[in-house]
Amino acid sequence: MSILVCGGAGYIGSHMVAHLIEKGQEVVILDSFEKGHKDAILGGKVYKGDLKDRKILDKVFTENKIEAVIDFAAYSLVGESMENPLKYFENNIGSTINLLEAMKDYNVKYIVFSSTAATYGEPENIPILESDKTFPTNPYGESKLSVEKILKWCNKAYGIKYTVLRYFNAAGAHISGKIGEDHRPESHLIPIILQVALRQREKIMIFGEDYDTEDGTCVRDYIHVSDLASAHFLALEKMKNGGDSAIYNLGNGKGFSVKEVVEVTRKVTGKEIKAEIAERREGDPAILIASSDKAKKELGWHPQYNSLETIIETAWNWHKKHLNGYEDKN
Ligand code: UFG
Repeated sequence: MSILVCGGAGYIGSHMVAHLIEKGQEVVILDSFEKGHKDAILGGKVYKGDLKDRKILDKVFTENKIEAVIDFAAYSLVGESMENPLKYFENNIGSTINLLEAMKDYNVKYIVFSSTAATYGEPENIPILESDKTFPTNPYGESKLSVEKILKWCNKAYGIKYTVLRYFNAAGAHISGKIGEDHRPESHLIPIILQVALRQREKIMIFGEDYDTEDGTCVRDYIHVSDLASAHFLALEKMKNGGDSAIYNLGNGKGFSVKEVVEVTRKVTGKEIKAEIAERREGDPAILIASSDKAKKELGWHPQYNSLETIIETAWNWHKKHLNGYEDKN
């Protein structure tokens, strides 16, 4: 029996594939390669195709014995989603509906779905609990929350069990140094700061210094990408062992301001990193910190790379060895 990883060539998906291989699982990957990289895939059987194409889904499900699906395939840029909401609804919701149709038809009963802290919008409490109100402030978060609701009804009607994992800020790279983070264009804080350390950018622009936080810059909860991967595996195991569908936050429960992240990166890399204060970026909440107690308690999840230094060290290790990221841009 195999596990199908949709979006397995992307940043988090490729770390998931690596984790499943380490756990001795049979892995099938389906990726459109619109954003993903061939070189990010460390093993498994690879199919190139879009989740909206029913033919490729039929091929994957008939040629393999798929026991469960882990779905990472989605657009995930908040800013782009504000400018083009229909692109996000059409892709992120449409493709998951197609995937669920195929799961129903081929009698596949488990899905782990990649969701986001963006489902909460401006948080009502810090740390954020899974039971807190969800009121997305951008179409990206809305698209993920819509799928969460669709999953609930598919569970009821077709018996497809789900685990929804709401990630906070995914960061870092695989401990082997073989795979890491390469978005094009890059918009995430840690890779951008590392590009400054590598002299590929002149400076980091800090988006806003007038937030209601200790140093005025936004606070986020950074979680290592391999720790995210291990939570997905535990979630699958739990469902297979009779556990119910559930929603979990995944974070370290500790917040770091943008200025603190820049400072820790200076220490880790030993490089001078020039920073400049810029305007706020539209749609950024001041503070996002997860309570992940539920995942720890119910999944037995224990993040291993839970210091920001270690997270940045792993990212630095990858970036300095892959100055141009993955060379293959598919
Ligand atoms: N930031 C800067 N300068 C930069 C880039 C980022 O100051 O050049 C700041 C942002 O304003 C934010 C923090 O660094 O305060 C982190 O920004 P990222 O873009 O790295 O991450 P986000 O918190 O915006 O986004 C993450 C995920 C999204 C998800 C969102 C939920 O990447 O997919 O959390 O709020 F939707």
